[in-house]
Amino acid sequence: MRLDHFRRLRPLCPACRAAGRAAAPLALGAAALVQGDDIVEGVLVCSERLCQREHPIVDGIPIVVADIASWSAHQLPALQRRDDLSAFTESLIGDAAGPQSEFHAERSNLGIYGWAHWGDAARSGDAEGAAAPRHGGAYLGLLDACWPLLDAPPQGAWIDVGCAVGRGTVELARRGAGIAVGVDLGFAMLRVAERVRRSGRARYPLRRGGLVFDRCDVAVADVPAERIAYWCCDAAALPFADAAFAGALLLNVVDCVPAPLALLAEAGRLLAPGAAALYASPYDWSTQATPVSQWLGGAGQRGPARGSSAAELRRILSPDRAAGVDLGLVIESELEAVPWNLRTGDRAAMAYAVHAARLRRR
Ligand SMILES: C[S@@+](CC[C@H](N)C(=O)[O-])C[C@H]1O[C@@H](n2cnc3c(N)ncnc32)[C@H](O)[C@@H]1O
Ligand SMILES: [Zn+2]
Repeated sequence: MRLDHFRRLRPLCPACRAAGRAAAPLALGAAALVQGDDIVEGVLVCSERLCQREHPIVDGIPIVVADIASWSAHQLPALQRRDDLSAFTESLIGDAAGPQSEFHAERSNLGIYGWAHWGDAARSGDAEGAAAPRHGGAYLGLLDACWPLLDAPPQGAWIDVGCAVGRGTVELARRGAGIAVGVDLGFAMLRVAERVRRSGRARYPLRRGGLVFDRCDVAVADVPAERIAYWCCDAAALPFADAAFAGALLLNVVDCVPAPLALLAEAGRLLAPGAAALYASPYDWSTQATPVSQWLGGAGQRGPARGSSAAELRRILSPDRAAGVDLGLVIESELEAVPWNLRTGDRAAMAYAVHAARLRRR
């Protein structure tokens, strides 16, 4: 976390808001490890006397969530994971832990998004004979296909909600944002993103199949590090002021959260009046992420949206206020089906046709 970003973003305490108080400003409590302009380890502290919650900064990433104990229950292994092991030893540990382990799930996920976001950079360290990988950099293909929906290039502060390993945030900065803030709850993902920002290298395990992974460690050129920030936050309770952002990416995240409408409402709160959001989703609902009752149109095929999530989004965000729910956002322009492919192994991929849209803050 750069000090100039902290001053510009003026974060507010989500624990205060969860307790029903006005969210108080966070102060920099201590910096335990500083490298150049970055506070790599330190703590942000809530300035409200009744709260004084500490929000740690680890590996350069501020962790600013309302309930750090429940966040830790899921994220502690990722937070504590050492990343100095050779690919050789990492693969020994992966084999020992086995396919049901959290470690395997984390590596598989990092490979899926690492490859989608950074796979267009040359791959190094491949084992001989690995089948030709496909869909490297598919995220960029998706972003470029959706980009014309925006009627103006990004300016000022933009937020990339559910940024994963960070490509969208880098693209926002490359394409004009004065500051691009990537937020995600997953610490392992953010660590990959933050490494790209601070060292210009994308490093992630890429699954061939079974328990077999190769390590990708590739140079990423042209990273405007001084205009990029990654924060570990819940998309439904972001630690920033109302109207703090001039635009948002909401790509493939609405079907990954427990309360999609709360996520949209939070995006509406954060955006300045007139600001645009680039939205996309495959509506690949699962109960691991979202209870069935919250699936937008994805349950209830006899309802008004006839089981179509895209139709339900249109209904919810209708510019006709009487028809829509007032989340502060309206839907302005759409693409019905944009291809988005995620590689899961050398011989396997998931193929999506995502619904994309430009949303506008009223
Ligand atoms: C399907 S991935 C999409 C990532 C990226 N936007 C893309 O299009 O490639 C969804 C991301 O949302 C993150 N996520 C899930 N729930 C979240 C939450 N409540 N707050 C912030 N991020 C969340 C996940 O960790 C994951 O990185
Ligand atoms: Zn507080």
